[in-house]
Amino acid sequence: MTQYKIALLPGDGIGEEIMAEAVKILQLVDSRHDDVSFDLTPAPFGASAWFSHGSCWPEETQTLCDGADAILKGTIGLSHAESKKIPSDQSAEKGLLAMRRRYDTYANFRPVFLPGSLGHFSPLKPEIIGDGIDILIIRELVGGLYFGEKEAGINAEGLRYAREQLDYDENQIRRIVEVAFQAAMKRRRKLHSVHKSNVLKSSVLWTEIVEEVAPEYPEVEVHHVLVDAAATYLCLKPTDFDVMVMENLFGDILSDQAGGILGSLGLMPSACVGPEKSYYEPSHGSAPDIAGQNIANPYSMIGSVAMMLEMSFGMTKEAENLWQAMQGVFAAGYSTPDLSRPGAGVTLVGTDEFGDRVAEALDGMPA
Ligand code: NAD
Ligand code: IPM
Ligand code: MN
Repeated sequence: MTQYKIALLPGDGIGEEIMAEAVKILQLVDSRHDDVSFDLTPAPFGASAWFSHGSCWPEETQTLCDGADAILKGTIGLSHAESKKIPSDQSAEKGLLAMRRRYDTYANFRPVFLPGSLGHFSPLKPEIIGDGIDILIIRELVGGLYFGEKEAGINAEGLRYAREQLDYDENQIRRIVEVAFQAAMKRRRKLHSVHKSNVLKSSVLWTEIVEEVAPEYPEVEVHHVLVDAAATYLCLKPTDFDVMVMENLFGDILSDQAGGILGSLGLMPSACVGPEKSYYEPSHGSAPDIAGQNIANPYSMIGSVAMMLEMSFGMTKEAENLWQAMQGVFAAGYSTPDLSRPGAGVTLVGTDEFGDRVAEALDGMPA
């Protein structure tokens, strides 16, 4: 029997609601496998932890995460107005960046998937979606502007100013580019490197490294695309993309746009992988506008569980079952309200009912 310790960090906003559905699924997976058991321990994290414990990543939660085999995180952050209650250098977002830095989770996998049969979820026209959208965005997660030196103050002319540095060295770039080529080899062998080398030196270096690594993967078709154009192509021809790799800030923005072309950020799970530890989280935020209403889409959270099963525990078959269970619930005509389009014949269900239906579908499959 293998026991996996999983730290559960529900966080803020819709975090608790969607985490409850993830826990439902983890308990079911545990009960379906005699050789595996999950030790699930919830802990405070995010703005709610700052209010209750005076820190967004309290000591006890850090210790739990240090000892965990994997971390499952919900969502963190407050609305624009509420966020003023916490000093900016102690914010929930800073706590999240500290976690990324501590575990060096440099490889962020953000799958963007919608079969053609669910095209009615998307704001794009059916002829654009064709047989479906199936992209893997790979975002560098521990470099760039997010982690560069920052300062703000009054300059010599007496004006308020802010400055932040965008640093990448070749090793940081090479390791994420290698991850992207390896992912492309397991998929349709097409890689788009997203950059801004017409303006940024960091992108010139990025592109150089992609070209240096490419000969190691002769079967992968490589394309270099400027980030601004990539934003357009995601809307106009999303089916052209297979794997996309990019630096931290570009990946933040384009992955949310990718959620938009699917129809909702609620369809965006993710894995944040480091050399020794990985954590899993939805790509989206705490959605304060819909928190507490039992309408958040838990697909992103349950999908993050599927990624954890596969990537941290090697439970590839069960992960595949879980994706199929979720797709089956959609195919049967159910969705949370974020994905509904008038006239599409979708039956609306709440967060908990979606989770129940996924659990029921999974339970009906051979383990
Ligand atoms: P958001 O991602 O929380 O929400 C954007 C929109 O998407 C909202 O309309 C929301 O209702 C919708 N949405 C998001 N997830 C959904 C789901 N599962 N089901 C249905 N609808 C969903 O972005 P925001 O409102 O700009 O940010 C809110 C807070 O979240 C901010 O404090 C931000 O810093 C934080 N944030 C945290 C993370 C994280 O935890 N990794 C990621 C992004 C933003
Ligand atoms: C994300 C979020 C985070 C980011 C914030 C909350 C720090 O937007 O995970 O995409 O910008 O990386
Ligand atoms: Mn983001």
